[in-house]
Amino acid sequence: MCGIVGYVGKHKVKDILLEGLKELEYRGYDSAGIAVLQEDNFSFYKAVGKLDNLVQKTADFNPEGFAIGIGHTRWATHGKPTELNAHPHLGESSYVVHNGIIENYQEIKNRLLADGVRFLSQTDTEVIVHLFEKYLKSEPTPFDAFKKTLAELEGAYAVLLATKSLPDTIFFAKNGSPMILGLSEDNEKIFASSDAPLIGHAKDVLYLDDGEYGYVTPTELQLFDKNDKAVQPSLSALPTSKLSAQKEGFRFFMEKEIYEQSVVISDTFLGRIQDTGIHFEELDPALFDDINEIKLCACGTSFHAALAASYLFERYAKIRSSVEIASEFRYKEPLLMKDTLFVVISQSGETADSLETLKMAKEAGLKTLVICNVDNSSMVRLADASILTRAGIEKGVASTKAFATQMSVLWMLSLYVAKKRDTLSDEEMLHQLQSLREVPNSVKVTDTLHEKIRRLSKRYLHGHGFFFIGRDVFFPLALEGALKLKEITYLHAEGYPSGEMKHGPIAMADPDLITIALMPKHMLYEKAKSNVEELSARDSTICAISPIEFDKADDFIKTHQRDHYMLEFFEMMVALQLLSMEISVRLGNDVDMPRNLAKSVTVE
Ligand code: F6R
Repeated sequence: MCGIVGYVGKHKVKDILLEGLKELEYRGYDSAGIAVLQEDNFSFYKAVGKLDNLVQKTADFNPEGFAIGIGHTRWATHGKPTELNAHPHLGESSYVVHNGIIENYQEIKNRLLADGVRFLSQTDTEVIVHLFEKYLKSEPTPFDAFKKTLAELEGAYAVLLATKSLPDTIFFAKNGSPMILGLSEDNEKIFASSDAPLIGHAKDVLYLDDGEYGYVTPTELQLFDKNDKAVQPSLSALPTSKLSAQKEGFRFFMEKEIYEQSVVISDTFLGRIQDTGIHFEELDPALFDDINEIKLCACGTSFHAALAASYLFERYAKIRSSVEIASEFRYKEPLLMKDTLFVVISQSGETADSLETLKMAKEAGLKTLVICNVDNSSMVRLADASILTRAGIEKGVASTKAFATQMSVLWMLSLYVAKKRDTLSDEEMLHQLQSLREVPNSVKVTDTLHEKIRRLSKRYLHGHGFFFIGRDVFFPLALEGALKLKEITYLHAEGYPSGEMKHGPIAMADPDLITIALMPKHMLYEKAKSNVEELSARDSTICAISPIEFDKADDFIKTHQRDHYMLEFFEMMVALQLLSMEISVRLGNDVDMPRNLAKSVTVE
């Protein structure tokens, strides 16, 4: 996820900007840049890759005295990670940095292009600075031009803009993306995407709310709310530890990442869910021409997303779908047919086994698609096409938000292919799109849910093992629940299809066998219920997760009544993630860095 910094003051502007960006590295980025305005003179620097590249480029740039500056680390969403696409973006006399996605950028860009404006980048962000400069010519003040610009932007943004017309001012706006303003004792103003860059510089902070905007100068802070009413800033004290600031108040990165799923799923949807179907700007619809099968290949959590997706592709797009574990696929001498689209799913884009299968598919002449969280990763560079999940960097080794965004993309993709193959009625498509829009809401963690799971977790520290069971897409979710538990609690757990228990594993049932049963209302509820009753009759300890009360369970996590099984899927996913995390906490394990595991597995 992109990171933003900004500075108005008389200290070392370059150092403050670069140190701030360094503190935001944990958010993930693939290029970075800064722009500094002193009197009438703008200096700017951009570099692809690590921040050190930018540090080297700016080695001889050492401005002294009063200056304003803006800086940015970019996590590519529109356009490749290149210097031209890196922020700040330049107009004739102004610079902008932006975090988020401007959903209607194409429409604005078309208008500006028709007016003769020249664009240098492929980003959505560049429209902001050109729109501002257009209004600079017609509006009475630069701030009016900024307000008029904001009024046209749809989507999510945190924006900082500096202009030669007011060389002591930074304009700011926040809507859906994070931005904080820190104030030092010296009256310096420092902006950042999270607390960490402000620690050591600012005394008080202003956590901006959505819809707020305004400007800062050395002597002023003007703040307006979403109704354009001037408001008094309400300042708070800063946390003191940088690591805890990066965790944004959560105990672990995993916890933070579970809580931010709603936001990253919204980001993943931006510009893609449209009125009558799904739009992937990055896909050429011809990718699906002459395709009769989709083969999905991945490892670990990404494999579970692939397995769940195979149900969706067959159900909605009526296309044959098969799923492969990458490490197995590599050596099984598979038959690869040219009418198969080969889809690799990977958070990192670097997993060795998955990467090899991609190479195999390419060599066999298949069309390839990668669903990945990291632009410019080896897989994204190799595949014919790629769709980026927009989860931002995932620091917890146990994957949570990456899985959530993979599932979001895969559900959208199944509908995209369904439209292409004309397999859903208009009415059914609208219902699916409406349900998709509800996903960010379904993954919000409530205090009640978290507290309930925290209390329950104390009962699950012993026993001779866990079975996570579910049917249909809830079977891959059960696999994922079991994997999360194994990874961070080191307890034995298995995921199983509910209907398979009686074919063997039920022999293990006794009070020390713990069954976590996924019982959604809208997917084979009665069937799942019978399977759980069979286990309950044999005295297995049951924890049921369901919106429907179930009296045969020892413990019960009640989910909300939702009208689509996929919304139940997403809500149950959160419950499973929290359950593993709380058990791990009670066992005293390292939640973020479990033993023996690495975040990116680049060896076979
Ligand atoms: C589990 C987890 C791993 C990864 C697997 C594949 O929490 O993170 O199972 O899913 O190593 O990694 P990617 O998705 O990067 O290819």
